[in-house]
This record gives sequence, structure tokens and C-alpha cells, in this order.
Amino acid sequence: MKLFLDTAIYEEIQQGVTWGVIDGVTTNPTLIAKAGHDHEDQVKRICQIIGNVSAEVVSEKTDDMIVEGRRLAAWHKNVIVKVPLTPEGTRVNVTLCFSVNQALLAAAIGAYIVSPFAGRLDDINEDGMRVVADIVAAYRQQEIKTKVLAASIRNPMHVTQAALAGADIATMPFGVLKMLFAHPLTEAGQKKFLEDYRKTQEAKPVPSARPEAAAKR
Ligand code: E4P
Repeated sequence: MKLFLDTAIYEEIQQGVTWGVIDGVTTNPTLIAKAGHDHEDQVKRICQIIGNVSAEVVSEKTDDMIVEGRRLAAWHKNVIVKVPLTPEGTRVNVTLCFSVNQALLAAAIGAYIVSPFAGRLDDINEDGMRVVADIVAAYRQQEIKTKVLAASIRNPMHVTQAALAGADIATMPFGVLKMLFAHPLTEAGQKKFLEDYRKTQEAKPVPSARPEAAAKR
């Protein structure tokens, strides 16, 4: 399963790239607004440092979506056009998916990616990760090639569950990506290793600053 960052904040993406753990980014109009930059400028800037950058259309009619989608795709070769799962949406990364049936529709129209929103289902007392797992199972059963991108991820457990469910991609906020590194046993283990290393250094005889002078004495 590939890890994507669910943000449009350049500095967060840059940090994720530096860590060498992310393969893409998912933006939406809300995330672009939070980043506080012009949509086109920000997407182009992000595309300079990472591939697989989902940029979402805001048009509401099919013809307009196609025109806008082509415009977004022309910004950079790394852009994946993202369209909402409404009857007007047609292809590429089909977003705002909340059920297996919607995911089947996305596949039926040849979507490259479908994005089920796990966290938003949890928010209304439904099991978001169950829906992700069911979509993966249905796609496998039907030999559907559309990739399942677990979106609206809120915590590290969601990432583990997405991987176990067989999702192709999980996109997460920067804060969740950072949490993936953390484990109290890793921190305690590293602390102990460093303490033990320092003890061995302290126990070693201090080498003379000028060995030749010491030899003459
Ligand atoms: C990603 O493609 C989605 O836009 C994103 O995961 C939405 O997440 P939210 O429910 O936290 O806004």
C-alpha cells in the first residue's frame, strides 16, 4: 500500500518527501483554501517535488468538468484529475465515495482511483474501514482494476486497517504520517542504546592529545 499525504501545505509535503515515505498527495478545495495559495500555483509547486498529485475539479456539469479536468491535467504531468462521485462525475480519481455500490459505479465508468472517505463515515456512526475493506473485496471478486484509495483518514489505526483491508493507497494528514513513526518501545530502545554507548565511551581511557609527546616521556 502506498502512502499519500492529504494536504496542500508545501512545507508538510516537502518534509514527507525528505523522509522518503510518501508517493503522492491528495488535495481538495478545502485543503487548497487552508494552504492559502492560488490553486494553480500551489498544485504546480507541489508537482515539482512529488508525483501523483490529485487536483479536484469544481465544475458541476459534465462538459465543464471535462474542460476543467483537461486544464488541470495540462498544469503538470504529475496531476491526477479528481472528480466528485455525482452523476455528473466521469473519471480518474472519483472522490466522495461512501459505499460499495458507488465504488462499483466508479469502476463502471473506468475510474483510475476511487476514494472512499473512511473518517466521514465514522463521523456518522458507520464503520468507514469496513466500507473500504468491502470495496477492496468486491473489486477483487469482480477483477476490477480501479485502485482503492482510503481517504478521510483520521488516525494511525486507520492506516493499519487500510493496509490489512488491501487498499492500494492511504492518504493522510501530515500529523498522522508523523504518528506512523512513533512507538514508545522505539523511543525507549533508542534512549537506552545511546546511554549504553555513552557509558562505553566514558569507560575508555582518554587518548593523549599529542601521542608522540607522551611516548618521549
Ligand atoms: C482526500 O482525497 C480527501 O479529500 C480527504 O481525505 C478528505 O478528508 P476529510 O474527511 O478529513 O476532510
